[in-house]
Amino acid sequence: MALTNHKFLLAARPVGMPKRSDWTYTEEPVGEPKEGELLVQLLYISLDPAMRIWINDARSYMPPVGIGELMRALGVGIVTASRNPRFAVGDYVSGLFGVQEYALTDGRGVAKVDTRAAPLPKYLSVLGMPGMTAYFGLLDTGQPKPGEMVVVSAAAGAVGAVVGQIAKIKNCRVVGIAGGAEKCRYIVQELGFDAAIDYKAAPVSGFLRRHCPEGIDVYFDNVGGAILDAALARLRLGARIVICGAISQYNNTGPITGPSNYLSLLSNRATMKGTLVLDYVDRYAQAGAEMAVWMAAGKLKSREDIVEGLATFPETLLKLFKSENSGKLMLKVG
Ligand SMILES: NC(=O)c1ccc[n+]([C@@H]2O[C@H](COP(=O)([O-])OP(=O)(O)OC[C@H]3O[C@@H](n4cnc5c(N)ncnc54)[C@H](OP(=O)(O)O)[C@@H]3O)[C@@H](O)[C@H]2O)c1
Repeated sequence: MALTNHKFLLAARPVGMPKRSDWTYTEEPVGEPKEGELLVQLLYISLDPAMRIWINDARSYMPPVGIGELMRALGVGIVTASRNPRFAVGDYVSGLFGVQEYALTDGRGVAKVDTRAAPLPKYLSVLGMPGMTAYFGLLDTGQPKPGEMVVVSAAAGAVGAVVGQIAKIKNCRVVGIAGGAEKCRYIVQELGFDAAIDYKAAPVSGFLRRHCPEGIDVYFDNVGGAILDAALARLRLGARIVICGAISQYNNTGPITGPSNYLSLLSNRATMKGTLVLDYVDRYAQAGAEMAVWMAAGKLKSREDIVEGLATFPETLLKLFKSENSGKLMLKVG
């Protein structure tokens, strides 16, 4: 029987939070692989804050998704047909397959994953792009030293939770900033952070004064806005700020709010530097091997927030921007 592929195309450039009408949900027959190609049935699709950046008509580290084009997404799945010698039917793979059920690909950028080593969703989570972002963003850009004070925002999320645990492994003191009592409990009691700040309960600056009396050595920023400003005001001499993301700003209809406390960089001879996971592709395997050891030793944990059904994509994506996801957000398909 002929297979049908369902997929989401970008219909319009969203203003503010993306709406269902910004997407087209469509179907087509599944094609046969040509020489050199393989067919992947998607099993899990990664939903990432960066998707909001990819659908803006603006210059970034990747070209924007065009109107009428398949929505870009990382995913993991199983090879169901192959005319590419590198891949066999039954292989589990990860790649940039898009928001759809089946992907035909020439295999470029596709990697095999070992489901005996870890369950498939982990390859979109701690052993996938968010884990790599945390590993290289913290260790390469943040350069934490034992005994230093590391603060991370969106600390219960896919990237933040891994940042905090790696900082603990490196013998730092770690404070996580997260929204709500449950996420704060999770990062302290289950992940071993030293303290948590609930930014929804009261202004962050007061909590930072209490938890970081001598200041912050490394601030790993996932959210931007007022929380970045509060961290800037508490830097220690020689501090490093890692700019990983600014999710509080992604759905702005006006200009992004920049930090006003930036002169703290001058007085503290501090640095603020962007980090991009794609710069480290050549080192993913080395980082993955090290993180797998930490996972096996119980030092590195992750949780995944898995929502069933491709058709829920427009609404499920918004969980990221409404603080409704608990861990790495992904869709289960197939
Ligand atoms: N530079 C790179 O290469 C790279 C790669 C991957 C991700 N990133 C960035 O890393 C950040 C985290 O991504 P992720 O995949 O790990 O997402 P995530 O943390 O799993 O989910 C997003 C979280 O952001 C928090 N949030 C949403 N709106 C907020 C607001 N207005 N103020 C403060 N917090 C808010 C929410 O947590 P609370 O419940 O705690 O509010 C939400 O759960 C994003 O900024 C993303 O763009 C960068």
